[in-house]
Amino acid sequence: MAGLFITFEGGEGCGKSTQIAALKARFEASGQSFVQTREPGGTPLGEAVRNLLQHDAAGEGMSPEAELLLFAASRAQHVRELIAPAIAAGQIVLCDRFLDSTTVYQGVARAIDPQQVQAINQFAIGSTRPDLTLLIDLPPEIGLARVHKRSDGQLDRMEQEAIEFFQAVRQGYLALAAAEPERIRVLDGNQSIESLEAEIWDIVQSKMNGSITANTN
Ligand SMILES: Nc1ncnc2c1ncn2[C@@H]1O[C@H](COP(=O)(O)OP(=O)(O)OP(=O)(O)O)[C@@H](O)[C@H]1O
Ligand SMILES: [Mg+2]
Repeated sequence: MAGLFITFEGGEGCGKSTQIAALKARFEASGQSFVQTREPGGTPLGEAVRNLLQHDAAGEGMSPEAELLLFAASRAQHVRELIAPAIAAGQIVLCDRFLDSTTVYQGVARAIDPQQVQAINQFAIGSTRPDLTLLIDLPPEIGLARVHKRSDGQLDRMEQEAIEFFQAVRQGYLALAAAEPERIRVLDGNQSIESLEAEIWDIVQSKMNGSITANTN
């Protein structure tokens, strides 16, 4: 089988990590091998960049342009060191955030010229593109309430933005999905973990069977 590159996208607390863990458990139960990774991160260099982006005091006052380039640097390494070789070896790659996060967070919410963002994204990824993107859509108020509950008051740099920022993120994602309905499947994040998991499993199985289903959302 040719490799398959599946990315999970959506705002803070929408359930990406929860659903990746669930899909991982399904793959393990069915003996399906896969590679699980995340952005920013996924490589030693990428994880160091992740810390700069999220927690390091050196990230205070980071300009939107520097932020964009740090995400791109993490991704450039990630694609070459891990993702592209895994896909070439026929693996299924599950990635927690990828390209679309940058398009939306930096290009829409931070309002950097989208054409510049696209050019930098393109430079970072080369020809490695997701085959399937699962976008978990959720009103940001609900997602942020979940994050606050989860992290016990410890928020990362991005999580401290104003609600308008996250509303722009949500609208940016939905616009992307409308523009690329074949790749991006929009899922309702405001349903139980179990029903979302079942929906994702159906989509992933049909993708693995090579039958691409149109997005009806
Ligand atoms: N469908 C759901 N219904 C209710 N709670 C959920 C649901 N999915 C996840 N949660 C809970 O919400 C919190 C955030 O979920 P999770 O960490 O999976 O989100 P995330 O999208 O990975 O967030 P982040 O963007 O911060 O990485 C967790 O405590 C999780 O248990
Ligand atoms: Mg997560």
